[in-house]
Amino acid sequence: MFVRQTESAALFEDTAVVVEEELGPTGRPTREVPEPAPLPSHGPAKIIAMCNQKGGVGKTTSTINLGASLAEFGRRVLLVDLDPQGALSAGLGVAHHDLELTVHNLLVEPRVAIDDVLMRTRVEGLDLLPSNIDLSAAEIQLVTEVGREQTLGRVLHPVLDRYDYVLIDCQPSLGLLTVNALACADSVIIPMECEYFSLRGLALLNDTVEKVHDRLNPRLELAGIVVTMFDSRTLHAREVMARVVEVFGDLVYDTVINRTVRFPETSVAGEPITTWAPKSTGAEAYRALAREVIHRSGR
Ligand SMILES: Nc1ncnc2c1ncn2[C@@H]1O[C@H](COP(=O)(O)OP(=O)(O)OP(=O)(O)O)[C@@H](O)[C@H]1O
Ligand SMILES: [Mg+2]
Repeated sequence: MFVRQTESAALFEDTAVVVEEELGPTGRPTREVPEPAPLPSHGPAKIIAMCNQKGGVGKTTSTINLGASLAEFGRRVLLVDLDPQGALSAGLGVAHHDLELTVHNLLVEPRVAIDDVLMRTRVEGLDLLPSNIDLSAAEIQLVTEVGREQTLGRVLHPVLDRYDYVLIDCQPSLGLLTVNALACADSVIIPMECEYFSLRGLALLNDTVEKVHDRLNPRLELAGIVVTMFDSRTLHAREVMARVVEVFGDLVYDTVINRTVRFPETSVAGEPITTWAPKSTGAEAYRALAREVIHRSGR
């Protein structure tokens, strides 16, 4: 953590008392976020697309662990695996190559109902719509459909009343599947790694979010940017962080996810870090992010 001497320190110069203000990893003073209150009833769900066309920035890891943390706070959460790589499903211990029905069937076969595809996970309150490589055909199959961008929104609609949050794990592209996620989402969370080339990608993503907002989904807004795999020891990461905060201001969550080997471990274990290593700093970080998300969305 960085520490900055506040101006008030100057006032106390005579008495040699130095008041120090604690700054969080984003370089801003840390803010208190209240503990989420229990919900008296559930739904309708806020749909959040976890989106960044850059690969390997922590989208899937954040979807799993934010989802599991929201569930720990008593929220009902549905995770949607919208990446043909199926990493979200695998990360939750689902043998995704053997699945009979997946999001792919749901998107291209009108007779398949969402409840036929829905799965419980080992985490109470956390459900999953799984995917596997079959989904890679959907982009092409959907191209000729009328209302092709709204397909995901249509199929999710029947279950929205059961959940408080639907988190969609997008693939690293801005193709038709990702546009489907943005077209039905209330908001977008962008996980990003603090490196120079991430900044250029953010501008392109911002353009896409704006276009979808103007042409397809006026509800859509940018909920926030979560910095992942942060290493405060490197000057480069700190410089990129400062720039992101300068450009995006309060959209950047105070919670920052540090780089730690515990996350790759959880992918192998097939469970969220919140159950695999509940007391780890990684688990605590995603709980803190969940508190911010709940506080900002008012649910
Ligand atoms: N905070 C972290 N510290 C260290 N490793 C991490 C962290 N977060 C994620 N990882 C690891 O980095 C890799 C990429 O993460 P993840 O799969 O979540 O990214 P992604 O954006 O979903 O990737 P893709 O674009 O391929 O879908 C994984 O091996 C994951 O375990
Ligand atoms: Mg992923």
